[in-house]
Amino acid sequence: MRKKIALIGGGQIGQILAMLAAQKEMGDIVVLDIPDYVDPVKGKALDLMEMAPHGNYDATIIGTSDYADIAGADVCIITAGKPRQAGMTREDLLNTNIQIIDSVAKGIKEHAPNAFCIVLTNPLDAMVYCFHKVTGFPKNQVMGMAGTLDTARYRAFIAMELGVSVADIAGTVLGGHGPTMVPLPRLTTIGGVPLAEIATQEQIDAVVQRTRKAGTEIVQLFGKGSAFFSPAWSAIVIAESYLKDKRRVLPGAALCEGEFGVNGLFIGVPCLISAKGVEKILEIKLTDEENAMLQTTLEAVQKTVDECKAQGF
Ligand code: APR
Repeated sequence: MRKKIALIGGGQIGQILAMLAAQKEMGDIVVLDIPDYVDPVKGKALDLMEMAPHGNYDATIIGTSDYADIAGADVCIITAGKPRQAGMTREDLLNTNIQIIDSVAKGIKEHAPNAFCIVLTNPLDAMVYCFHKVTGFPKNQVMGMAGTLDTARYRAFIAMELGVSVADIAGTVLGGHGPTMVPLPRLTTIGGVPLAEIATQEQIDAVVQRTRKAGTEIVQLFGKGSAFFSPAWSAIVIAESYLKDKRRVLPGAALCEGEFGVNGLFIGVPCLISAKGVEKILEIKLTDEENAMLQTTLEAVQKTVDECKAQGF
């Protein structure tokens, strides 16, 4: 029997997720959106069914607004919610998206209680926190996508800056999904060569700064809405590692209970993703300077989570 992928939210990111999941034959796909937007998602699903003969995939793809249709889903990828517009911070989305995440979490808890859940809705770290709180799912079953995207952006900028293949760049970005995130140049390598051996400090600083503002750079260019290709691919990579038990080590927002000295917060950390979901958080011994940056990002995430708590989450 095929696996089942439920995409909650069929907007910009949701539609790319559906296309990628189909092309990779990850399973049958259900795209769920609000009743007011159900016809467009039905149309998108049908369009993708009609792409199958040339796309060379076998999958049943449907659009719906009925949670009963996600029953038995193996993976749920959540993009339901408003994206940023130019001039907004991710935190500006909190009051709208917290209500959406509340209803989505209840729907998934009732209809797909065993699904591995990947949250993309912003402000990311706080929305994963709320999703986990409402579902009460085991912590290994819930993850926020952002670190995988932030690391992809970081790698892309290094490749662009240095003129090397992105395939050879290994590195990670810790912390919250926002301007306080913590890229780790000290541990970044290019084909096994430490980044600092190849790049100047000015180049490294420029890449770090650009990574921290990467989402905003796209929002400013788009004018309306936020990034969708790279967030979708990042979520697919995580979902694939889960479905195929690839055991990839991918950064993302996971519930820390002591790791990195963090307690009770979802924050971007390196995660081992297996058929168990977030099987393990891999810790890194940080320098004092890196630790100070981690504290700053923790404070930023805690502030947003406190707002969620004040609203009863
Ligand atoms: N249940 C299901 N879907 C919902 C709900 C809900 N309660 N509320 C809104 N949606 C749907 C919208 O109808 C829309 O189709 O979520 C979809 C969001 O799509 P877009 O507006 O195109 O936003 P997108 O660019 O996909 O980003 C989604 O991910 O990266 C984050 O900041 C981004 O929070 C945003 C989210």
